Amino acid sequence: MDGETYSSYHPFVSHPVVTVILGTIFSCILLWFIRDGLRVEGIEQKHVFVTGCDTGFGNLLARQLDQRGFNVIASCLTDKGEQDLQAASSPKLKTVLLNVTDSQSIEKALQFVQTEVGDKGLWGLVNNAGRATPIGPTEWMEKEDFNKVLDVNLIGLIEITLRFLPLIKKARGRVVNVASVMGRLAFAGGGYCLSKWGVESFSDSLRRDMQYFGIKVSIIEPGFFKTGVTSLAVIEKDLQRLWDRLSPEVRDSYGVQYFDKYLKAQSLSMNTFCSSDISKVTNCMEHALIAKYPRTRYGAGWDAKFFWLPLSYVPSFIADFMLRALLPTPDASRQQINLAFNSTDNLNKIQVNPH
Ligand SMILES: NC(=O)c1ccc[n+]([C@@H]2O[C@H](COP(=O)([O-])OP(=O)(O)OC[C@H]3O[C@@H](n4cnc5c(N)ncnc54)[C@H](OP(=O)(O)O)[C@@H]3O)[C@@H](O)[C@H]2O)c1
Repeated sequence: MDGETYSSYHPFVSHPVVTVILGTIFSCILLWFIRDGLRVEGIEQKHVFVTGCDTGFGNLLARQLDQRGFNVIASCLTDKGEQDLQAASSPKLKTVLLNVTDSQSIEKALQFVQTEVGDKGLWGLVNNAGRATPIGPTEWMEKEDFNKVLDVNLIGLIEITLRFLPLIKKARGRVVNVASVMGRLAFAGGGYCLSKWGVESFSDSLRRDMQYFGIKVSIIEPGFFKTGVTSLAVIEKDLQRLWDRLSPEVRDSYGVQYFDKYLKAQSLSMNTFCSSDISKVTNCMEHALIAKYPRTRYGAGWDAKFFWLPLSYVPSFIADFMLRALLPTPDASRQQINLAFNSTDNLNKIQVNPH
């Protein structure tokens, strides 16, 4: 079989340009996987400080890193959180109390960590502590509701990072900031999305500014997982508080049925999206700490990778349409549509029968 006949049977395999392109793509993917799999050495000599370890991602991460051999310093908001974590981990893991909204508490935790790490500095800072409530329709919020979330998720994270930066610089270490898909696509009112957009932008600036000092900054963008921040009991209780304090006019514009419909829609979405396998998130955090070349962004969970993050790239009118389908419609919106429909109807009548 001569070359011409062969190429007509196997155009993709035999065509040299296509072969080179496919070969290059395959080699790039292979190289990326090899690079992504490279690990740092001397984990046993490295210290990692994690915030918000009472429950959820922080709690699992602290235990996971402890098993890996890191020197973990886990900060908890409560005494009980500290005791429970100590009971579930090796004696090597240290705990410290920390409220990320309290500068004095941050200072005490810093002193503790400084003593623990000595001259080696801090290899990893994982800013994980966070809260979600108050979260709900924007119009139901007051300024204080925004502050409650921003203080923990954004201002607390910034203050801790700035105070711990000299220790991280010493170790040419890493900062791992927990954002969210809600930091890429805003689909709930209140401080949560704002705070996570803030975490994204703070992390981007930090990464660009600190690259000269060998510090790497990674952002974790989890989808929905069953933890304290997605607890429907907590979110619904707080929504009830917001609903109850609305003025009668605002409440009427939503309609009497709205609150119940909102809770049902929210519960349906949460039950559809929330995964109980939180190791998908902690594995990303661990990779950011042990990989020789940590990634800048980690989308964690199938909903993040295949729904929320792609949706954040589509034109806003498509995202608005999709997100609208997830929540009920306030009564006032239907009244306005009826009003518009009636006025068009009247206009037609006038035009058809002008006399
Ligand atoms: N679960 C999800 O679907 C999801 C998705 C995207 C991003 N995230 C983010 O992931 C991080 C961890 O949340 P999680 O899902 O693991 O929920 P979680 O179980 O509620 O963990 C959050 C932790 O932060 C602690 N915390 C709250 N306020 C604090 C403060 N002022 N100072 C120090 N610690 C404080 C909480 O302590 P208490 O329990 O004692 O209040 C809790 O241990 C948060 O930043 C959250 O926004 C979660």
